This record gives sequence, C-alpha cells and structure tokens, in this order.
Amino acid sequence: MNALAHPRVLVAGGTGHYGRYIVQSLLAQGVPVRVLTRNAGSARRLLGEAPELVEGDITDPPARRAALQGMDALVIAVSAMSPRLVRKTKEIEGDAVQALLAEGAQQSVRRVVYLSVYEVKEEISERVDLASGDAKVRVERALARSGLSWTVLGCAPSMQIFFAMIRGDTMMVPGGGPPALPTISALDVGEIAAQATLRSDLSGRRFRLVGPEAIGFREAARRISRVAGRPIGFRRIPLALPLLVRGLVRPLTPLSDRLLYVYQMLGFVELLNRFPPEIASEAPQAHRLLLETFSYRPTTLEMEARRWLRGPGQGRDLASTTTSSPA
Ligand SMILES: NC(=O)c1ccc[n+]([C@@H]2O[C@H](COP(=O)([O-])OP(=O)(O)OC[C@H]3O[C@@H](n4cnc5c(N)ncnc54)[C@H](OP(=O)(O)O)[C@@H]3O)[C@@H](O)[C@H]2O)c1
Repeated sequence: MNALAHPRVLVAGGTGHYGRYIVQSLLAQGVPVRVLTRNAGSARRLLGEAPELVEGDITDPPARRAALQGMDALVIAVSAMSPRLVRKTKEIEGDAVQALLAEGAQQSVRRVVYLSVYEVKEEISERVDLASGDAKVRVERALARSGLSWTVLGCAPSMQIFFAMIRGDTMMVPGGGPPALPTISALDVGEIAAQATLRSDLSGRRFRLVGPEAIGFREAARRISRVAGRPIGFRRIPLALPLLVRGLVRPLTPLSDRLLYVYQMLGFVELLNRFPPEIASEAPQAHRLLLETFSYRPTTLEMEARRWLRGPGQGRDLASTTTSSPA
C-alpha cells in the first residue's frame, strides 16, 4: 500500500453527516485537516479545536482560494439537501465543486476523494427529477478528465435512515422500502474516506461504500427492536400517498424553498422504493472489496443501534440521529 507523505487535507463538507467522521478519522491519524464551512462557530463546537477552519461559501471564489491555499489533498463531501440550500443544488454540488477541483489542480492539490451517490445513473436521476444526481454525474465526469489523482466513493444511504423512520414504537416507511437496501454507517464512511485520501494507489477507482449487508426496513425494525429490548413495529405507508403529494407540490416548487425540498425528499422516497434489486444483490461483493482494500472494523446494524440508543454526542458519536440525504 502506498501512502502520501504528510499531506495537508481540505475537507469541504467536513461538518456534514459523513464529513464530520472523515475529519475525525484523518485527525486520529495525525493528519492536519482544514474544513471549509459557512459557520465557523458551530463547526468549532461540533469538531473541537483540532481542525483548522476556513469560514466561507463554496460558491464564493475568494473563499475557495483561501480554503485551497497550501493543501495537498481534497475531500469533497458537500451536500445541498436542506430546505435553505436545495434551490442551489446545481450551483453548490455541481458548479462550485467543479470550480474547486479545477482551482485545486492549479494550486497544490494532487489527490482528491469525492463522495458521490451509490450508483450514478443519469436516466434514473432524470426520471425522478433529482438535481443532486445530475450534479454528481457531471462532477464524476469532470474528475475523469481532470488529470488529478482521484477516487470516487459511491456512498450507500446512511444506516441512520432506519432510525430516522422510527416514531415512538413504530418504524413507518413510505412504500415499505425495497426488499433489500444497501446502507452504511457514517463511522465506516469516515474511516474508508480517510484511508483513501492518504493512499496513492487508488487513483482512478470508484468504490461502492456499503455496510456488511443489504436488508429491508421490516427486518431492520425487528433487529433494532431486539437491541433496544422493546417492541418496534413496522408500518408500510402506501407509496401512492407520497407520490400524490409530490405531484401536487411540483407546480408550487418555484414559490417556496420548503416545497422544493419536500418535492426532492419525496423523490428520494420514490428512488428508495425502486432501488434496483440487481444492484442490491451486488452489495456483498462491494463490501468484500472494501474489506480487501481498507483496514477497518465494519459497523453492523446492531452496533449502529447501540450508538442510536446512546444518543448523539456519546462516545465516538458526533452525529445527530437523523440523516439529511437518504440516497
Ligand atoms: N447522508 C446520506 O445518507 C448520503 C447517502 C449517499 C450519498 N451521500 C453523499 O455524501 C455527501 C455528503 O452528504 P451528507 O449527507 O454527509 O451531507 P450533509 O450532512 O447534508 O452536510 C452538508 C455539508 O455540506 C456543506 N455545505 C453545504 N453547502 C455549502 C456551501 N454553500 N459552502 C460550503 N459548504 C457547504 C455543509 O457545511 P456547513 O453547513 O458547515 O457550511 C455540510 O458540511 C454528499 O455528496 C451526498 O450526496 C450522502
């Protein structure tokens, strides 16, 4: 295994659901980390004193320049999946990320790790009308042309998606979800992304980041219930309902960011329910490749459930118990 010598790493999106664990894992390996964030105060509270912070917006050229100054490697874990940002998805996740890559290459950046979606399929993101999927396709293409040493990590939905759907004693799932969904713990994403950043032998490779198994929501509810020591039921909400709401909301999306966010989230729900079974069936193979390539202890659903029961801020858990972008 080849390792980069003493790289300085910029993490764009280092306060995010996945990014915060990437920062944590890099710091644990003694790597100097800089984080680009729009709010240095809350980033400091979340990440502690160790990382350097550059306050600014990725869409702002001077902020990108300040963040890139003197960096050897770049990790991109930016997402616009929030009510306040969703209208700027193309600008943030597409144009600004591509600008960061181009400017990084002109400065001192040589190594890039890019967090993308599990599977990039243009026709799917077009059919479901998801701006984020479109941006990912474009960035992956730009990377391939960039001349940089890059690795793409196609992330499965966070395992937290199972917990985010629990209300009281019931897991309520629109459409019931697919029979098997690949998911991964944010802890594993952090560890793998940090190792990938420091490796020089993974250039030009795309990995699917997935946990030890792909399971359905009903099975997840049963197993979380066992760990929690209390019954957690499962309820399927007919998919027609969210799809109807999505159709009704669509003409109103130009009027309200919140409605646009609802429209996009319901698109993820549809995407989730139509998760291609052939891709889910390849999850064990993708996971085996991760184990062969990286050195880490995979997080199981039971381990993640114990983390969820402890609540945020416990042990290694930096994260909130909800996930912002499920696919
Ligand atoms: N979470 C999942 O289940 C999941 C599943 C598959 C793929 N992914 C992919 O993984 C990546 C990370 O997703 P995530 O869920 O971890 O994201 P997230 O929790 O929504 O965090 C978003 C991050 O982007 C940063 N950001 C947003 N707009 C910005 C701007 N204008 N300028 C600078 N920073 C900005 C935020 O930083 P500040 O708020 O500090 O500025 C924050 O750190 C994305 O590519 C996403 O598509 C996620």
